[in-house]
Amino acid sequence: METITISQSPQHVGETVRIGVWLTDKRSSGKIAFLQLRDGTGFFQGIIRKNDVDEETFELAKHDLHQETSFYVTGEIAEDKRSKFGYEIHITDIDVVGTSDEYPIGNKEHGIDFLLDHRHLWLRSRKPWALMRIRSRVKLATMEFFNKHGFTQFDAPILTGSAPEGTTELFETDYFDRSAYLSQSGQLYGEAGAMALGRIYTMGPTFRAEKSKTRRHLMEFWMIEPEMAWCHEEESEEIQEQYVAYLIQDLIDNCPLELEMVGRSVESLKPFTELPYPRITYKEAIEMLQKGGLDVKYGDDFGSPEETYLADQFQKPVFIKNYPKEIKAFYMPTDPEDDRQVICADLLAPEGYGEIIGGSERSYDYDYITSKLEENGLSKENYGWYDDLRKYGSVPHSGFGMGLERFLSWVTLQDHIRENIPFPRMLNRLNP
Ligand code: 4AD
Ligand code: MG
Repeated sequence: METITISQSPQHVGETVRIGVWLTDKRSSGKIAFLQLRDGTGFFQGIIRKNDVDEETFELAKHDLHQETSFYVTGEIAEDKRSKFGYEIHITDIDVVGTSDEYPIGNKEHGIDFLLDHRHLWLRSRKPWALMRIRSRVKLATMEFFNKHGFTQFDAPILTGSAPEGTTELFETDYFDRSAYLSQSGQLYGEAGAMALGRIYTMGPTFRAEKSKTRRHLMEFWMIEPEMAWCHEEESEEIQEQYVAYLIQDLIDNCPLELEMVGRSVESLKPFTELPYPRITYKEAIEMLQKGGLDVKYGDDFGSPEETYLADQFQKPVFIKNYPKEIKAFYMPTDPEDDRQVICADLLAPEGYGEIIGGSERSYDYDYITSKLEENGLSKENYGWYDDLRKYGSVPHSGFGMGLERFLSWVTLQDHIRENIPFPRMLNRLNP
């Protein structure tokens, strides 16, 4: 007899097979019991009839299988037109492997703190399962997209001596006789990679010791950071929108069931696969916000209300271009049309999800970068290598960073990004 997975059951209709499963729920009446099963690859129903099995097995199914008991189930795969998955198993034998009594997460409503305290178990539930599958798919599609576009995957270090996005948000740790910082962004190393390999992307965890408790902030989040030599901002924005549209189309094609399980209709995603996305300047954004009655002036950074208002005007992701220098990072070059500004863009997601991508052109002028490093108190000792990239064959280059969980929370319509990462790290949460 073959041992298969739930996901393989369509290929085994009419065959008797064995599957390792956990019980998620059950109900029974006199002569029949319905067992809701999961095995990691999917969810389906097992039916056990008193007449098909010996007395002992039927009693076991009725009384001794509790939520999350693990067992091998043997039976015949059949079509089940009433369920979404479309298949079920008619059970002939059960072989318990691990008992489970009083599983803490019931099939009822629990508060979010309780669920997060039990995250190690909560991951087994349907919605977390679907969210983790979508996350995995997006990482795979990311690799496919950048591979197709001639990018090389490149790994930036996590322990660093430097702070590219400002020195206040760093996690510091002992590094023998000195300090090290957990990386806030792989970008500066990505720039070195681009000068060696042309087009690279990093994909890894990044860390921000921001004391913010918003729906959009994690202390540890994953970022995808492409960096392109011989590339100006306009071309970078084209890559960005193609990338986002590609990811969405990939989910529509490969994760329709998971999307439905998290409450995101495929129809509602389709408009976001149509390019181009609109582009407006920071100055136009300020005017738009002022007309809408929001209290902002030139020079202000945008928070969640401003980002939501702006994105609502388009119903699509929208690029906001060329922000004032003061609110952006040191490496961005001056905007030739207004020297108060830099050449950059943020991509805002629609539906109230805010910034998902931050990107810019990088100054490739040695003197400009040297003066900026000094201005920002970034030492030669730590950043001399970054200067070197401008000293030896400097070329125009651009790049961007997409927050994986920000993108995911938008496409899966989660209120808070904490459910889009297996074990969220937040202001008050380091466990489990
Ligand atoms: O805008 P940020 O800070 O840009 C950078 O770090 C650049 N070095 C990227 C680059 O050009 N290579 O961060 C980029 C993205 C944001 O748009 C957002 O999606 C995400 O990272 N992000 C966070 N996601 C979750 N929690 C946080 N605390 C985040 N901070 C930024
Ligand atoms: Mg940003």
